[in-house]
Formats: sequence, structure tokens, C-alpha cells
Amino acid sequence: MNKQKAKWNLKFSERENELLKPDKFLTENLALLKKGKLADVACGDGRNAVYLAENGFDVSCFDFSEVAFQKLNTFTFEKKIKIETTLCDLETYNFEGFENCFDSVLVSHFLLQGKFFENLKKILKVGGTLVYSTFNLKQHEATGFRKEFCLQENEILEAFNDFELVKFEQTENEVFLDNYILRKRK
Ligand SMILES: C[S@@+](CC[C@H](N)C(=O)[O-])C[C@H]1O[C@@H](n2cnc3c(N)ncnc32)[C@H](O)[C@@H]1O
Repeated sequence: MNKQKAKWNLKFSERENELLKPDKFLTENLALLKKGKLADVACGDGRNAVYLAENGFDVSCFDFSEVAFQKLNTFTFEKKIKIETTLCDLETYNFEGFENCFDSVLVSHFLLQGKFFENLKKILKVGGTLVYSTFNLKQHEATGFRKEFCLQENEILEAFNDFELVKFEQTENEVFLDNYILRKRK
């Protein structure tokens, strides 16, 4: 098994069977997201996915951790909600069949090089919203968190320069995050 995947499976198996609080930037800006089909990419055990499903989104989740999905399935069963799950390694997965599929895409606390950003563009419908919220370089400077998992200054704006910027906010409560909402132009 892939080393990273084993690491995440272990992390999720050590975690309590309790749903974590959804991301603050997401809950505070929910009204800015286009309603409809939403992809939560690298969703983990679903703190944001469950919140979004409970708020009327038709949620599809993507992650490589089967342990995270087992937990997510317990939460959705308890809450009587439905969330689609796709077990995939985002390093190589190309989202075949999901082209122009989603009204909104969420990436929370995750970053990947390579074709990842192109894939996000591909699965989002024109006029759809992308919420991208993850660690910036201050997190690396303050804690030694690996640099490759931190957003460079303007990395998102440059990668999505064909998108409209709807909202940007840096937050520094406990962790250092860059939070974006962008819209795919018509
Ligand atoms: C920090 S967690 C974030 C989880 C969730 N988005 C949240 O905000 O709570 C990172 C997630 O990325 C997933 N992940 C890491 N590398 C991956 C890869 N190559 N393919 C698919 N999922 C991956 C892990 O399993 C984990 O669920």
C-alpha cells in the first residue's frame, strides 16, 4: 500500500468516531457557493461534506482513505443523509466521467502538485464556484509543516487566472490558512 495512504488510514483509525466541526471559512461563506452538485476533494471523514449535505448540497466525496470513508459512511447512516464516495488516489486519478459535472468544488486542507488544479477546473461547470482553503507559507515558517503542502503566495490566483475572484481571506486562528472563493467564468 502507498505510504501516504497508510499514514492517513492510521490517522483516521486513531480518531474518535466523532464528526469534527466544519471549516469556519466555509460556514461563514456558504451563501457564496453555487447550490447543486458539489465535489469535496480530499474530503477526509467528512466534516465539511456532511455539513454541506445537511445544507442542501448534493455531495460527492473523493479521497484515498478507506478508513475515512468507513467513518463518513457511519456519519451519513446516523444522520440519514446520502453522500457519494469515490475512493481514488488524486495523484493519478483523472476524474473521468465527472467533466463539467459540479456546481461547486471544495478543497479544504489539501494541496497537490501536477495536474491537480487542471482536474479541479475540468470537473467544475461554467459559472460554478471553487472554494480552496489550505495552509500557506506562514504555517511552514511557524511550525515546520512541509513546504510542499503549503500554498505559495498567489499560487491559486496564478493557477486560476481565468477564474473570477469572489473572496479571499487569510486566517491565523491556530493555523495559517489562505481561503479563496473563485468562480469559473462563462
Ligand atoms: C488534512 S486532511 C483534510 C480532510 C478534509 N478536507 C478536511 O478539511 O477535514 C487531507 C486528506 O487528504 C487525503 N489525501 C492525501 N493524499 C491523497 C491522495 N493522493 N489522494 C487522495 N486523497 C488524499 C487524506 O486521506 C485526508 O483525508
